[in-house]
Parts: sequence; structure tokens; C-alpha cells
Amino acid sequence: MEVIILSDADEIGVVGADAIAALLARKPDAVLGLATGSSPLAIYDELARRYAAGKISFHRARGFTLDEYVGLPADHPQRYRNVIDEVFVSKVDFAPDAVQGPDGLAADIPAACAEYETAIRDAGGVDLQILGIGTDGHVAFNEPGFSLGSRTRIKTLTRQTRMDNSRFFGDDTDAVPTHCLTQGLATIMEARHLILVATGRGKAEAVHQLVEGPISALWPATVLQLHPHVTVLLDEPAARRLQLVDYYRETYRAKPEWQGI
Ligand code: GLP
Repeated sequence: MEVIILSDADEIGVVGADAIAALLARKPDAVLGLATGSSPLAIYDELARRYAAGKISFHRARGFTLDEYVGLPADHPQRYRNVIDEVFVSKVDFAPDAVQGPDGLAADIPAACAEYETAIRDAGGVDLQILGIGTDGHVAFNEPGFSLGSRTRIKTLTRQTRMDNSRFFGDDTDAVPTHCLTQGLATIMEARHLILVATGRGKAEAVHQLVEGPISALWPATVLQLHPHVTVLLDEPAARRLQLVDYYRETYRAKPEWQGI
């Protein structure tokens, strides 16, 4: 796991966008795993800027989102499929239907989850997955206690996550759906490169557990320690609880530029 501590979200955006640009340069039809939440926004903004400047294109790329609320109407602004359109997809040149998400309105939820897994596999798997992390260590919507070997399925959100996300629902926790569809941890672990972004002091404990804690269902993100290619992009406040912080800084400073992330 490579830990990179950067000065702010803008710098995180540049480093994340560089990795995606390098991937698209060698594989224009790459499959991207897209996360919602505020953490990846700096990367999406930087990618949109580079697209507007004619430096990058997504016209052959494909995308799969991580998760979705169950039951939100198709036109609800907080439906993750709409959120990712608004913050990223609509600002670049993905082909129509090149980006898909789990269907939170499906009549047959288990069948829709199985189809989603098949769609990812048929696309050749995810080349680069962007991830955020919840304050309780969840990734996508895989909450504490969930199986570390899970696949895409329906789950119940914790009260903590519903409280965290209530800011998008008029600060009303009860307005946040109780259920979600989420890629499982085993699904996410099959992506070839994982880039996890965390900013702010509120994420410091989850980041410490993710990087340095014992692998445990109590902190679902810790399963990422078993992945061969994970990059963790942090700002200073999110890195403040890391035990080996000096070593991470030293390693990144000494890294040959040709290596990329
Ligand atoms: C939500 C999403 C996650 C995201 C997390 C953190 O619960 N399902 O994919 O990583 O929130 O969000 P933020 O980046 O806004 O802190």
C-alpha cells in the first residue's frame, strides 16, 4: 500500500488525474471505477479541466459506479447515478451508456446485482478504481461487520453513515434511504489498481486503521491491505494519526518520477 500525503485537495486532484491520464494513454478503452462522495471531487474537477483543455479523452473508456441508494426516484438529485453524471460524466466525453451503476430501482434486486457483476466482468474488469472511505472505515457501502469476501448485493446502511450523508438530504437523517446496493469488497478487490482518497481530520482514525490496523470486518477498508496495488492519497489532517508518517513522506519524496503511482 502506497501512502502519499499531499498539501491539499487540489494536489490530490493532480496526482489522481495523472494516474488516470497515464492509464488512458496506454489503454484508451480503460474501465474506470467511479466513486461518489466529496473525496474524489478534486480528481474529477482536474480531469474535467484537462478534457476542456483537449488533453484527455474518455470517448472509448467505460465506467462503473460503486454503489446506489435503494428506492430513490430516477430523477432524485442524490441518486448516485445522477450525482456522478453531474459532478463528472457530463463534463467529459464518455459515450452514451458507457457509465453504469447498480440499479436501485430494480424489481428483482438480486438479479440486478448479479447482472452488474457480469457487466463488470464482460467489460474486462475495472482497471482503476477510485475510492473514498467513511468515517467508520466503510468503502463503497460496505459497512463494519460486512463480509470481506462480499459481492454486489443489497445492504442496510448504518445510522452513522445515514447521519454522515444527511447533509445531502436537508440534514434529515430519516430522509436518507435505509438500504443500498453496493459492490462487495471482493468485487472491489478485483480492480487492478485502487486509489483511495481521504481528506480532513474526521477521516484520520479510519485512515490509520486502513493502513496500519489489523485486517478486520470492523474496519472494512482494512481488506485493501491484501491488494497488490493500492495508492492512498491523503491531506495532512487525514494523515495525522498515522504511526509511520515520516516513512511514508520519505518514500514519496525519494520516489523516481518514472514510477508513477
Ligand atoms: C458514502 C459513499 C462512499 C464514500 C463515503 C465517504 O457513504 N457510499 O463511497 O466513500 O460516503 O464520502 P465522502 O468522500 O463524502 O466523505
